[in-house]
Amino acid sequence: MPSTRILLDTDPGIDDALAILLAVASPEIQLDSVISVHGNCAVEQATLNALAILELAGANNIPVAKGFNLPLVQPSLLALETHGDAGLGYAKLSAPRNPPSARHGCDFLVERIMSNPGEMTLVAIGPLTNVAVAIRKEPRIVGALKEIIIMGGAVRHQGNSTPLAEFNVHVDPHAAHMVFHSGIPLTLVPLDVTYQCILTPADVKRLNKINSPITKFIDDSTRFYMEFHDEYQQIDGCAINDPLALALAFAPELCTYEEHFVDVDISGGVSMGNTFADFYKHTKKPANMKVALGVRARDFMELFLERMEGLARRLSET
Ligand code: RIB
Ligand code: CA
Repeated sequence: MPSTRILLDTDPGIDDALAILLAVASPEIQLDSVISVHGNCAVEQATLNALAILELAGANNIPVAKGFNLPLVQPSLLALETHGDAGLGYAKLSAPRNPPSARHGCDFLVERIMSNPGEMTLVAIGPLTNVAVAIRKEPRIVGALKEIIIMGGAVRHQGNSTPLAEFNVHVDPHAAHMVFHSGIPLTLVPLDVTYQCILTPADVKRLNKINSPITKFIDDSTRFYMEFHDEYQQIDGCAINDPLALALAFAPELCTYEEHFVDVDISGGVSMGNTFADFYKHTKKPANMKVALGVRARDFMELFLERMEGLARRLSET
């Protein structure tokens, strides 16, 4: 089976953790490396979480490199109320045995891309700080990357960080602006599709039929995440944004796409970080990305649950 080689830039984070588990559980994916970034929690914590989640999944051979801890211009904005003080909700993982790479995540990202020209798909599921600086440090990555699949933005959907902005873009809108206008082939996976992918308590109950550290982790981490969604967004369950973006690296047919010119507001006002698609071609600018606007949500959720069941059985305690 041909596998898609991916680099994962991530701020684990509960749904990021589920995306890492999905990558490990999916034979179609060759997870080359993980690069951590600030966002759901500070990058130090995100790095520890990435290492611990890979260990939990029996994938501690995958290298992790620590990236940036601050946005390019904006002040730090973390989401501890959404993901918990340690970034993984109520889940408690053992301290990872492996250390992160000694190299900075941004340098690590450039090296992995440039040593595998045309081979790597970057799946970016946190703020885009690492990616933006990598483009400035080594402009040749623009031609060396196959594509970037970005979990971020909200095109027709309301924001989840402000009424007008999605979290990953709102945290570092200047980085998003640089990536959106880089010329790299981009696929945007916005809240428009990810908020149709809701993990429900019934889904978690199904997974709990398997006695495994994986299902216990999913239960403990998503219970916190569901409480947030219930309290702040009146959702019965939790949006698993990042696993959908990861899944499109090997199952792009789960979504439908339109090509549009998409920009991000960096003017600093009430709509800072807003992402908008030029549906009516007002700007006359060429499309700069594919935007996922439709999703086969139940098919994706079934795929996700089946992959989690498979991983849980492989790592079950009984
Ligand atoms: O808006 C959702 C995104 O912000 C997800 O990637 C979530 O993990 C947070 O980083
Ligand atoms: Ca994330």
